[in-house]
Amino acid sequence: MQALVLVGGEGTRMRPLTLTRPKPALQLVDRPFIRYIVEWLARHRITDVVMACGFGADPLREVLREGGGRGPRIRYVEEPEPLDTAGPLRLAADEGLLGDRLLVLNGDLLSDLDLSALIRAHDERGAAATLALHPSEDPSSYGLVRRTGGPAGPGTSPASAEGEVLQFVEKPDPGQIDTDEISAGAYVLERSVIESIPPHKPVSIEHEIFPRLVGQGLYGHRLDGYWMDVGTPERYLQASWDILEGRVQTAASTRVGGAGLLVEDGAVVDPAASVNPPALLETEVAVGAGAAVGARAVIGHRSEIGERANVSSSVVLSDCRIGPQASVHEAILAPGVEVGEGARIEAGAVIGEGARIEAGVAIADGARLGPGEVAS
Ligand code: GTP
Repeated sequence: MQALVLVGGEGTRMRPLTLTRPKPALQLVDRPFIRYIVEWLARHRITDVVMACGFGADPLREVLREGGGRGPRIRYVEEPEPLDTAGPLRLAADEGLLGDRLLVLNGDLLSDLDLSALIRAHDERGAAATLALHPSEDPSSYGLVRRTGGPAGPGTSPASAEGEVLQFVEKPDPGQIDTDEISAGAYVLERSVIESIPPHKPVSIEHEIFPRLVGQGLYGHRLDGYWMDVGTPERYLQASWDILEGRVQTAASTRVGGAGLLVEDGAVVDPAASVNPPALLETEVAVGAGAAVGARAVIGHRSEIGERANVSSSVVLSDCRIGPQASVHEAILAPGVEVGEGARIEAGAVIGEGARIEAGVAIADGARLGPGEVAS
């Protein structure tokens, strides 16, 4: 079975992190995000993957090469202009990369949903297209999918396994919420559907292709399990804790282990510092005397946490320097950030690659600092 992963979005909500590297190449816990997707696909015996890149494919090639060439065969298709979510499928087909049936995934999913069950359900019904449906506690922010046999209301169980899609409801009003099932950004398509996509122009699969397929062999199949669309800094942090705490089945969670704590070889933690799980400290991290790291922290390779500094509920990527007595709370620091002595980085802040925060400066809640910027 073959899969195509949509990885060409701009990732605007993840700026400034995505100003220096595309969202799929961002580090999440101990590996680039796209590797979680490839590992998820490999667990479901997908042997051939096409990455649909809107921009240059080089950053992705680079991070996937680090996987050592194991796993599925990976090929890349680059769009001359962003083609939205359906256009890249048609382009890949026109370039001769696709077979008769295709699994498609949004490239920002962290999930362990049973893709094999989705493919089986598609085959058993002889469907033209089958969408993975996932129950959501807050369906209003995603859009609902109404189907035959669906749940009678939020939180209720599906009546049956039927699943002919009846209607899509975008941004439903509270009164319209009669199901909790949303489209999970994973679907199986027959080649006939891909051939119906107009060529050489941006086309949205959600808005232009799926609504046209209602009544023409479009099914939805409910899958329970972990599902997160890692599209915002808040969700990126939550996804990090979910991996460390083992709430999603991934190779990274297995590596961190049940205690939720991994201090890699070569990391040096002063005996007078504290590290509270869940936490990951990668190679060559140094934590000074009196510092407190965690609960909930990822500290990337070679980063230094100064004496009596405090880092909690935060991701500090590689090669950062956190000065003595500085504090970082619920924030994301891209690689190479410097935080001066006694500086404070407050909840929701996202700091771009190589930025510098001078001693004693406070970065306010939710602030963004661009790559290389200096806060003084
Ligand atoms: P935001 O800019 O923050 O909304 O993020 P995004 O660009 O990733 O958009 P969104 O989350 O809506 O995209 C859903 C999926 O489709 C993501 O995996 C994107 O990478 C992908 N995608 C969106 N637009 C394109 C495109 O023009 N080409 C390709 N190849 N993929 C796209």
